[in-house]
Amino acid sequence: MKPERISHIGIAVRDLEKAIQDYQALFDFDCIEQTEVSSEGVKVAMLKVGESEIELLSPTSETGAIAKFLKERGEGIHHLAIKVPDVFEAIRSAERAGMIVLDRTPRRGANGSEAAFVHPKSTHGVLLEFYNR
Ligand code: CO
Repeated sequence: MKPERISHIGIAVRDLEKAIQDYQALFDFDCIEQTEVSSEGVKVAMLKVGESEIELLSPTSETGAIAKFLKERGEGIHHLAIKVPDVFEAIRSAERAGMIVLDRTPRRGANGSEAAFVHPKSTHGVLLEFYNR
């Protein structure tokens, strides 16, 4: 499957408002979109960078994946998302290649978004996200 572009780079931050402020001091972003995914214990801000985005992620619960990441590794790059034409097919294809895929079917989010993650053990140390946007 052909990758279409870098969709976004996810960065784990402790304080979302402070992180947005700091990134806004660096760049004049055209669009900053904020959402909360309560099921995953995370608040997200998407900062548009041309065709790609920076995804700032901060925890809303102590037990979510981002809270755990911050505890173990501190702030920093959390994942790399590649836009693919078909997330379901990308999962199947990665599984056929023997990769450790963390989602057997796409996770569905707001606005018809679909995502699936590949374990860093299969990608030389980077949590990789297949994403349809
Ligand atoms: Co992401």
